Amino acid sequence: MKRIVCLISGRGSNLESVLRTAAAERWETEVPARVVAVISNRGDAAGLAHAATHGLPATVVEHQRFASREAFDAGLATAIDAHAPDVVVLAGFMRVLGASFVARYTGRLINIHPSLLPAFPGLATHRQALAAGVRVHGATVHFVSNAVDGGAIIAQAAVGVLPDDTEETLAARVLQREHVLLPRCVRWLCEERIGLVDGGVVVRDVAPGELALLG
Ligand code: GRF
Repeated sequence: MKRIVCLISGRGSNLESVLRTAAAERWETEVPARVVAVISNRGDAAGLAHAATHGLPATVVEHQRFASREAFDAGLATAIDAHAPDVVVLAGFMRVLGASFVARYTGRLINIHPSLLPAFPGLATHRQALAAGVRVHGATVHFVSNAVDGGAIIAQAAVGVLPDDTEETLAARVLQREHVLLPRCVRWLCEERIGLVDGGVVVRDVAPGELALLG
C-alpha cells in the first residue's frame, strides 16, 4: 500500500480531486494506495475541511511560527515523516521549499503548477499568460527540484485562451484540467509507471496522449 501525504495552503480543490478520484477508482485495492494525511501551512486553509470530510488526519504547520525557512522545512518534514509517506503531493502548497527538504523527498515529491512550464513560473500565472498574449495556457505536474517550478515535467494539460478571457475565467478552465491531471499523476507515481531517474522522468505504460491533455 503506497502512502500519500498531501500538502495544501488554501482552498484545497486539487486535494479534493485526488480524494474523490481515489475513492471513485478504488485506489485502495486497485493501485494500491491511499491518502493518509493532509498537512497545511495555514490554519485557516479552507481545504482542511476536505480532510475532515474524508476522515483524514490534518496537521497544521504554520510557517509563521518558525524563525527561519530552514526551521519551517524541518518542522514540516517531521510532520510529513510521521505518516511514513511513499509519495508527497504539493496540491496547492504555496511555500518555497529549501534544498535539504527537496533532497529528502526527491523522486517522490510532485507539484501542480497552473501554467505550461517553463512558461510563467511563480505567482499570478493566469495574469502573466494574458499579459503575454499566449493563445494556449494550462497546467503542469512536475517533480520538485531546487529550481522553483523548474523540476522535471511529468504531464501537462492545455486550454485555449479565449479573446474575452479574464484572469478568473481562464483560471477556472485551467483548474478543471488540473483536477484531471493531478490525480492521474499521483496514481502513476504510486503505480511506479512514472519515476525520476538521473533528474529525468521515466515513463512506463502511459500513453503519450495521457501525458499531454489537449483541448
Ligand atoms: C492551483 O491552481 C494549483 O495549481 C496552484 O495553486 C492552486 C491551488 O488551488 N499551485 P487549490 O487549493 O487546489 O484549490
